[in-house]
Amino acid sequence: MTRSAVVPNHIAIVMDGNGRWASMRFLPRLAGHKQGVSSLKRCVKACAQRGVSILSVFAFSSENWQRPADEVSGLMDLLASAIGSEVPQLERDGVRLYFVGNRSDLSQNVVKGLEKAEAATAHNSRLVLNVCFNYGGRWDIAQAAQALCTQGVPITEASLGAALALAHVPDPDLFIRTGGEQRISNFLLWQAAYSEMYFSDDLWPEFDESSLDRAIEAYGRRERRFGKVSSQLRVSEASQASRAD
Ligand code: IPE
Ligand code: IPE
Ligand code: MG
Repeated sequence: MTRSAVVPNHIAIVMDGNGRWASMRFLPRLAGHKQGVSSLKRCVKACAQRGVSILSVFAFSSENWQRPADEVSGLMDLLASAIGSEVPQLERDGVRLYFVGNRSDLSQNVVKGLEKAEAATAHNSRLVLNVCFNYGGRWDIAQAAQALCTQGVPITEASLGAALALAHVPDPDLFIRTGGEQRISNFLLWQAAYSEMYFSDDLWPEFDESSLDRAIEAYGRRERRFGKVSSQLRVSEASQASRAD
C-alpha cells in the first residue's frame, strides 16, 4: 500500500462466508467460524498497523438465532473461548474491546466474560474493536427510542444517535462486506448512512492484508460529498489547507 493512501478512521465489516469456506473443504460450518476468528485476529493487527482507529465487526446477528441449534451453540462457545484465549494479546497490542448488542439473551457466563474483557482492555487506545454480537440495526434503533421514551427525552437525530449502542464512536467511513453478497443484513442501519460501501468476493476466512489494502485503496478513490457538490468540496479543502499553512 502506498504511504499516501487515505486511511479510514472507522472500518465496519460484515464478516460473511465462513460456512461456504468450510463447505468447500468438506468441513463442518463451525470449522469455518473458527478460521473466521483467525482472520479477525489478522485483520485487527493489519488495521492497527495501517492507522485505523476503530474497527466494528458483525459477529452474530439478531437473525442468526434462526440457524440450526448446534451452529448457534457452537458460535456461543466460540465467542467464550475466543475471549478466553485472545484478550491477553489484544490487551498487550493496545486494543480496546467493546461488545455491542443485546446481552439479555446471552448466558450469565458469556455476559461475565464480555464484561471482564471490556474491563481488562479499558485503558487501551491504539484501536477500538467493537464486536457486534447479538446485534441488529433495528434492535439498536428500537432500544434507543425506548430509552428516550422512558426518560421523557424528545426524539431528535442527535438524541437518538447518542442513545445508540455505538454512540462511543463516530460513524464508519468504510463499510466492507465479504463473501460476495451485496446487502447490509441489518448491520449498522443508522450509522452507515454515509459510509462508503465495499463488497469483496473473498470469503471472510481468506480476507487478508492485501484484501484490506484493496478495500482501503478503493475507499481512497471515492469522493465523499455528504450531499454537497464537488466544487464545494474543493473550496473547503483549499481553505483547510490555507488554515494549516
Ligand atoms: C458469517 O458467515 C458468520 C456468521 C453469520 C456468524 P456465514 O456463517 O454466514 O457464512 P456463509 O454465508 O454461510 O458462507
Ligand atoms: C450477516 O451474515 C451476519 C454476520 C456476518 C454476523 P448472514 O450470513 O447472517 O447474512 P444473510 O443471512 O446472508 O443476509
Ligand atoms: Mg452468510
